[in-house]
Amino acid sequence: MIDVRAVRREFPIFVNNPNLVFLDSGASAQKPRAVIDGIAEFYRSDYANVHRGVYQLSARSTDRFEEARATVRAFLNAADEREIVFVRGATEAINLVAQSWGGAVLQAGDEVVISDLEHHSNLVPWQIACQRAGARLLVAPTDATGEFDLGAFEALLSPRTRMVAVTHVSNVTGTVLPVENIARLAHRRGAMVLVDGCQAIPRMPVDVQAIGCDFYAFSGHKAYGPSGVGILYGRYDALAAMPPWQTGGGMITSVAYAGTEFQEPPHRFEAGTPDIAGAVGLKLALDFIEGFGREAIREHEAALTDYGVDVLSRIPDLNLVGGGQRRLSILSFNIDGVHPHDVGTVLDQHEVAVRVGHHCAQPLMDKLGISGTVRASLGIYNDKADIDRLAKAIEACREMFLR
Ligand code: ALA
Repeated sequence: MIDVRAVRREFPIFVNNPNLVFLDSGASAQKPRAVIDGIAEFYRSDYANVHRGVYQLSARSTDRFEEARATVRAFLNAADEREIVFVRGATEAINLVAQSWGGAVLQAGDEVVISDLEHHSNLVPWQIACQRAGARLLVAPTDATGEFDLGAFEALLSPRTRMVAVTHVSNVTGTVLPVENIARLAHRRGAMVLVDGCQAIPRMPVDVQAIGCDFYAFSGHKAYGPSGVGILYGRYDALAAMPPWQTGGGMITSVAYAGTEFQEPPHRFEAGTPDIAGAVGLKLALDFIEGFGREAIREHEAALTDYGVDVLSRIPDLNLVGGGQRRLSILSFNIDGVHPHDVGTVLDQHEVAVRVGHHCAQPLMDKLGISGTVRASLGIYNDKADIDRLAKAIEACREMFLR
């Protein structure tokens, strides 16, 4: 059982904004004191560049950086620390795979399968990789309820399928995809599997070996960590077969005008000085999550999601969007006759922070025949009172626009 009042005391943003109802963790989560103070302390005590200095301070900084990698490995249950690549965020992680793996492997006539729930960051990189190779981008559909259609997905797979790239939890509808089954079916066809774990990582247990994926990407800032740091998990064999995508310092073993030798993963994919303090902050954020336990967080947010569905379903003129049977922490909706931006503005006047618009998923909006939604997304610091405040603010909005 999560004590939300105690949790909120750990987040300075709520101490400084006591009336704030923050329902936009899907865009970026707030930061606990442990992360904010821990990053400052790292800069004060241990900071220097990593993997370069012979002096003690640099060794200490390198240890902190590599300790963060070890924490991420354990958090994902990856088999090996060399499978953890530090990147700027999930967007960069997916671009890395699409450009490096995609550039090396995709051929004319090959196929890449995504779902119709993808964020642009797990769509556009594949679209471009396919265009470059002359490959085809295929889209696995969700059904009328918003559930991922496993049968339709399986029917799309062919001997030409090279990559299946899907989100773990939709950032628009909260739909949880059956990634284990998706990976099993894709592997049976010899395809690789990438999972965009941005929305899953902060709110449910994730075990990359149990999922059986080849790649898993996530951003630190959605998991209570700093922005500017993220992770690409890649099965070691898969990473070892991939060429570098960005080049420069830190990723070479030798450079001569005649040619350059590259390091093994993960350093091969970490050109330039990384976000060192970001990695340290991410470690602290993952420790913070583990302090509660991911099963406890999932239970907390699942119960709150059910409560939210119940409360919102009873509001006249309000339509919940998609979600299916397995929806977690994200509630997208529209109010008949009121533009999502107007709803968001009225909610803001009631100190309820939500995201409105297409949520970086324009093809999904086109499929649903809408221009956007209002999206309430949950974090560890939300409780039923926040949902009640949301409902009250929606009532005020209906009063203003519909009466
Ligand atoms: N991907 C983030 C969201 O869904 C920014 O809001």
